Amino acid sequence: MNATKTHGKHGDFAIEAKGLVKRFKSGKAFIEVLKNVDFDARHGDLTMVMGPSGSGKSTLIAALSGLLRPEEGKVSALDVDNLWKMSSGKIDKFRLDHCGFIFQGFNLFPALSALQQVEIVLKFQGLSKSDARKQAMITLKEVGLGHRLHQRPSILSGGEKQRVAIARALAKNPQILFADEPTSALDGENGQIVIQLLRRAATQHGAAVICVTHDPRLEAWADRVIKIEDGIIISDERRVPDPNAALAHH
Ligand SMILES: Nc1ncnc2c1ncn2[C@@H]1O[C@H](COP(=O)(O)OP(=O)(O)OP(=O)(O)O)[C@@H](O)[C@H]1O
Ligand SMILES: [Mg+2]
Repeated sequence: MNATKTHGKHGDFAIEAKGLVKRFKSGKAFIEVLKNVDFDARHGDLTMVMGPSGSGKSTLIAALSGLLRPEEGKVSALDVDNLWKMSSGKIDKFRLDHCGFIFQGFNLFPALSALQQVEIVLKFQGLSKSDARKQAMITLKEVGLGHRLHQRPSILSGGEKQRVAIARALAKNPQILFADEPTSALDGENGQIVIQLLRRAATQHGAAVICVTHDPRLEAWADRVIKIEDGIIISDERRVPDPNAALAHH
């Protein structure tokens, strides 16, 4: 559980998709939600995926992460040549071992304390009870929740809940981190804390962070901004992230 991983140099693709097509049935017709999408993301980058509601952002994340099978196309990730050629058990194992997820709605277990939420994932991965506890505590402290270890979600603020979800995603030091609208339920100040943690996951841990948002204020932290409209990537720009960007009102 240290930051030095076996992934390639900064700049290598962590994930690369070619020709993704996803259709959903709508009455008798099919609507095409991903229209031949090529996508890639690099280790150490915070890659932002932006676009209007319904443009296919969440569908793209689901197809990239092995949650939703595309009708066509290929996803290569880390040392796996074609994710969707693997059995569903192997895909699940890949996700468990290498991917972290953060969603708008936090998705925490109501009955578990902050510490337990993070521990449980690590135990799933095969860590001993004491190692899981140790690592969970380190990660919760890293996200500024050292004083909230034993609280359940019901008494945590929205910002704190999202930080628990981030700790849960980061504790296993994932090489690929998917975040779908991670700040949209938060005020400016908490949104800023969250985006800074994602920034750090990329810069300090070398994760490929793929963050879906429609908040243009988050762009300042990104290494790369990919825009999608109606299932098509319409622009893809690299930029220099601004370490002093501010989201909160002063
Ligand atoms: N399971 C499904 N069955 C049918 N249609 C779906 C399904 N999931 C998504 N869609 C449709 O696919 C399109 C893209 O949805 P998606 O959730 O990827 O958009 P999004 O860009 O994430 O939007 P938002 O910003 O609102 O989250 C939408 O028109 C949506 O209604
Ligand atoms: Mg969405």
